[in-house]
Amino acid sequence: MQIEFTQKIQTSARVLGVAQGCQPTTTVQGISGFSELLNHYPRFSGKREQTLALTVEGNPLLLVGLGELASFDEPAARRLGGVIFNELDKLGISAATVDLAAVENRNALAVQLALGANLRSYRFDKYKKVDEDARPMLEVLHLLVDDEISAKNLYIPLDAQLKGVFTARDLVSEPANVLYPESYAERCLFLKELGVEVEILDANHLSDLGMNSLLSVAQGSQREARVVVMQWKNGGATPPLAFVGKGVTFDTGGISIKPAAGMEDMKWDMAGSATVVGLMETLARRKAPVNAVGVIGLVENMPSGSASRPGDVVKAMSGQTIEILNTDAEGRLVLADALWYTQDRFKPRLMIDLATLTGAIIVALGVHKAGMFCNDDTLQTQLLKASKRSGESLWPMPLGDEYVKEIKSEIADWRNITSGKGAGSTIGAVFLQQFVNGVPWAHLDVAGVVWADKEQPLFRKGATGFGVRLLDELVSELTA
Ligand code: BES
Ligand code: ZN
Ligand code: ZN
Repeated sequence: MQIEFTQKIQTSARVLGVAQGCQPTTTVQGISGFSELLNHYPRFSGKREQTLALTVEGNPLLLVGLGELASFDEPAARRLGGVIFNELDKLGISAATVDLAAVENRNALAVQLALGANLRSYRFDKYKKVDEDARPMLEVLHLLVDDEISAKNLYIPLDAQLKGVFTARDLVSEPANVLYPESYAERCLFLKELGVEVEILDANHLSDLGMNSLLSVAQGSQREARVVVMQWKNGGATPPLAFVGKGVTFDTGGISIKPAAGMEDMKWDMAGSATVVGLMETLARRKAPVNAVGVIGLVENMPSGSASRPGDVVKAMSGQTIEILNTDAEGRLVLADALWYTQDRFKPRLMIDLATLTGAIIVALGVHKAGMFCNDDTLQTQLLKASKRSGESLWPMPLGDEYVKEIKSEIADWRNITSGKGAGSTIGAVFLQQFVNGVPWAHLDVAGVVWADKEQPLFRKGATGFGVRLLDELVSELTA
């Protein structure tokens, strides 16, 4: 969808923001008797994200509630953009002009609204020959602003975020017969055109590096493991920020096999890695003044005659040994080596990993917040700030020595599941912590937030692209 910032109403179809509690005057441009008109619709109060579609003098007019103006901020404007897109799309309108009449700071809010509308426009329909839902999609959205040039400039980095989110969603949406470690790694090569250095480490290379923990997950599959290393270098001699993603292209559970019902969901067990790829794209597109490294561990977890068995012991790249007591707790085995490799090679300023690591985080936080496990208070504060700005919500979860005791193995250094009860997400996190070597680090358990069973203002059902905008905001914050 095309976005145009303008100072004049460009289309017969209009969208008008109405603040809650303040009666609009009769002076709405081109609409006479506006407050009388509203009197016919007493249920429409201007409550945030409330909508009312009307026809006025033969032209479509969509009223949208802004809520209380004092709290109508950038995240609210972004969500409203999604709501507006959805309503216009339902109406089958192809072009409209949005007027946030009442607000101050119209430029900053309009660009966020544009981003929100575009985020909502995403569909993954490449495998549909006939799309029953096909409707004329909204083609152009004009937004009234005070200064066209400055709005256009403000939108440039947001468009970079949008493209990164779409890339993450595309990757997450692909079925596992199309996207497997080798094909996934190849797809990452598009980043080269944007100036990102991309290296693909194949299984032999990983074996030479001693990544036996990661490789043990892939050994039951016909598909070979890959690790992809992406570097965006635009920060001089400063140590990089590192982002590490779980990329299990399909998680059957392995020999500790999952139940059949819902197993199709495990095609998106690589969503953490997709966020890392999307983030690298965003940073490159907006030419972020930073050194950033993305490392993704790509494997398929299958049961077979060559798969690892419960009770197997492997030696990780760090030299520590792991007793694999449940082959379905495989994400931590992948990340153990990916995290160790990342800190060992790049000596980063900080590391953030993203992983659909545990079902338990969905029990704890549902689908609205990702769990954040952090060994550094400063980083945690910065992440929470980025979370607020991006609207991608995080909730702090505990680490702790008490939990570490529960992953001590009888015959190896660590076991990959608890010897105790409960706290499944923290157990996964403290396991990862053994492989970060003291570097400031955060683990984001995103199992609940990367795939939506219900639509929201900023996405339909399906892949959400969670984390790309959050981490882009964090990078902005750290490089400001
Ligand atoms: N990929 C799953 C976690 C998951 C579950 C993600 C549901 C998204 C939705 C992970 O590999 C897994 O299977 N974890 C196990 C860990 C357990 C064996 C300790 C889990 O959560 O049950
Ligand atoms: Zn699993
Ligand atoms: Zn998994």
